[in-house]
Formats: sequence, structure tokens, C-alpha cells
Amino acid sequence: MKIVTIIGARPQIIKAAALSRAIRNHFADRIQEVIVHTGQHYDENMSQVFFDELQIPRPDYNLNVGSASHGIQTARMTEGIEALLIKEQPDFIVLYGDTNSTLAGAVAAAKIHVPIVHIEAGLRSFNKSMPEEINRIVCDHCSTLLFTPTQAGLENLKREGFSIDESGVSTSSTTPSSGTAAPTIDNPKVYHCGDIMYDNSLHFSTVAEEKTTIIRRLDLEGKPFILATIHRDNNTDHAERLNAIFNALLRLAEDNIIVLPLHPRTAKMLKTNLDTEKQTLLFSHANIRIVPPVSFLEMVALERHAQLVMTDSGGVQKEAYFFKKPCIILRQETEWVEIVATGNAILADADEGRILQAWQHFESHPATDFPPIFGDGHAAEFMLSRILECRACHSKSDLL
Ligand code: UD1
Ligand code: UDP
Repeated sequence: MKIVTIIGARPQIIKAAALSRAIRNHFADRIQEVIVHTGQHYDENMSQVFFDELQIPRPDYNLNVGSASHGIQTARMTEGIEALLIKEQPDFIVLYGDTNSTLAGAVAAAKIHVPIVHIEAGLRSFNKSMPEEINRIVCDHCSTLLFTPTQAGLENLKREGFSIDESGVSTSSTTPSSGTAAPTIDNPKVYHCGDIMYDNSLHFSTVAEEKTTIIRRLDLEGKPFILATIHRDNNTDHAERLNAIFNALLRLAEDNIIVLPLHPRTAKMLKTNLDTEKQTLLFSHANIRIVPPVSFLEMVALERHAQLVMTDSGGVQKEAYFFKKPCIILRQETEWVEIVATGNAILADADEGRILQAWQHFESHPATDFPPIFGDGHAAEFMLSRILECRACHSKSDLL
């Protein structure tokens, strides 16, 4: 069986590491993976670093689309992906998450009848002003196999009319699915199977400790610190929101060390959207360590050692939870509602007062209970088994 995997943005490259590893370790004799990098992210520290560090096979193709408006970027990717699908004739295309690379893969594949596997299906912010919300809805509704990491994702898909065969819903990597009707785009199959990012965090947790020096390099040994990441366009591209977030960070930096690996979008937008005096203070502050984007292993090391995480990233919110750290979410809403429900994350939006209140809350109520809500760390193996099953089901019906 041949699959084409589409990656492009940083978190997709990281997620792909788990699937490629599972193929290499358990399915090498049955699954051939062709990796297509759209080139959405291209800086060394947003792309190549992950291939080197996480042992992801070199992409077979790179479309090198680079940055552009949503329309232009998505159109360039769609054109490139369509041509490669026609050339490669895969059994499935595998798409991750909700970026423009995901959308392009979905549109290209659905129109030429290549079945889509969507990993991280069903997540919703219920905010269609987010580009990602459009991307994930389109992708889900063009997919044949949908793998949702959370119960909320499953419920969202039910609400949108996906028929869920409860006996086929599995939260375990070992439970086989039931039912014999071959899944198709018009008869899609949904699985609740845990989070592929959790697979990675478990796998790389100890390695990160052994192989990185970032804690020492940033002079953080034995010191509590806040780990912050900000990149959501809704925060970076609106001066008022960006200033409110950085007001809160500067207030917290009076008594705390803050580590801020800076996404290139944020690095660019800080120059235009953050008040000049705040820029000066931020970049010269003794308690604020601003660093370029770090590698995944370095990020895991930072997450493991941080006292608290502040972020608008989807992946970093979850990783805070995996490593049992409280999280202040710099957004109005989150797709990862379960972590808020456990009390270990607080939605504070880009609101200085609410961010500081959330900080106070976690100071007086340290987070302790992190129930296992993201699966068993073997989501990738589960997904690959179901994809093979689906392929076998189609071969059988072709013979009838
Ligand atoms: C994209 C995804 C977002 C995801 C994020 C992960 C979409 C619509 N957005 O957002 O869902 O959370 O990736 O990080 O797909 N840039 C560089 N170098 C790079 C990449 C980007 O300088 O290697 C700069 C460019 O100025 C570019 C800007 O960052 O215009 C934004 O990049 P883009 O890929 O369009 O969106 P992200 O904000 O990264
Ligand atoms: N990440 C990283 N280096 C960084 C910041 C984030 O390796 O400097 C990792 C992080 O650990 C997580 C993923 O990137 O696995 C999240 O990606 P990002 O925040 O860019 O996007 P999102 O998850 O919001 O789509």
C-alpha cells in the first residue's frame, strides 16, 4: 500500500515523525510512504531541524511554495499536490491538522478521488474568522478516514452529521474496528484514537533530557521560569491584542524569568505592532530570554522544566498538559476543551487582566491532577492498522 503524506508547517513535520517511525518499526513490509513537503515553512529552524533531530525521512518532493497570501499559497500547493498525486497514484493521502497545506491536500485529493486520511479530525473552535477553522472543516468533510484525538472531536463530528458506528469507535491502539462496508468519501469512518503528538512527547521525553543543553545555555538550571509562545495571526496582527499580551509578559517579568522562542511571524509583527518603548524594554529585559524558534527536543526540555506555559499554540497547549504543567491560553477559545475542563488550563484571551489573574490562580492553586485524555501513546500504530484494514476492505469489494 502506498500513502502520500503532506507536510508543510512546523507542527505537521513534528507529527509526521510519529507516523514515519511507526511505519519504519511495524509496517515497513506493508506500507510505502511518499513524503511531500509543501514548503509552507522553510527557515532552517522551522523545518530542516526537525528532519535531522526526529529522524524523519527526507521528503521525496518539496513544492517550495514559501509564504504568500492564503489564496496564492493554497493555490500553488493545490496545483503541486494534484500533479504529484497523479504521478504517484497512492492508495491514500494523509493530511495533518488544519493548515493551508492541509486544505490544499484535501482539495487536490478529493477532486481526483484519492481517499483522504485526516489526522486530528473533528476539532473545532467555532470561530470561522480563524483560517484554521475553515481548513479543518473542509478537510473533515472531504475525508474517508477521520482520526480524532479527543472525545470533543468525536462529538463535533457527530453534530455535523458524520454517522459514528459506536462499536467501531476505539480509544485503544489494539481494538480492531468493526463493520465491513468499505469506507469512502460518502461513507466516511471516524475513529477516536488518541493524539499523535502524545506519541511523540512520550517517545522523545527522555531523549530531550539527554540530548539538549538549552536549560544550561539559557541559565535556567534550578530556576523556575515561564515558557511562552505566541504566533496566532489574531494576536500578532492586531496591535491592541499584541500590546495587551506583552504588557502582561512585562508585568510578570518583574518577578519571573520568561523564555520566549519567537515564531518568525511574531518576530516580524513585533516590529510594526508593538509600541516602541515596549520593544526596547522587551529586548533588553534581564528576565526575558528571547530566542529563535527552538528544536523539538529543546522545546520538550523547556516544557518539562517550566513552571507554567503561556501560549496561543494548539500543540504547545497540549504538550503543557502532557508534561503536567498549568497553561494560560492566549485565545478566546480552544479546540482542546478537555484541558480547560480539567482546570489545568485557563482561557485568558489577549487580556492583560485575565492573564495576570490566571497566573495568580495557578500560584495559589498548583495544578496536580492530569487525567489521561490523549490516548496511550500508540495512536500512530492504531491509525496505520485502520488504514491497512480500509485498503483490504476495498480490495475485497473490488473482487466481488
Ligand atoms: C501556520 C498555520 C497555523 C499553524 C502555524 C504553525 C495556516 C493558515 N496557518 O501559521 O495554523 O499554527 O503555521 O507554526 O496554515 N515565516 C518565515 N519563515 C518560515 C515560515 C514563515 O519567515 O519558515 C513568516 C513569513 O513572514 C510568513 C509568516 O511567517 O508570512 C506566516 O507564515 P504562514 O505559514 O503563512 O503562517 P503561520 O503563522 O506560520
Ligand atoms: N515547537 C518547537 N519549537 C518552538 C516552538 C514550538 O519545536 O520554538 C513545537 C512544539 O513543541 C509543538 C509544535 O511546535 O510540538 C507546535 O507548533 P506551533 O506552535 O508552531 O503550531 P500549532 O500547534 O499552534 O499549530
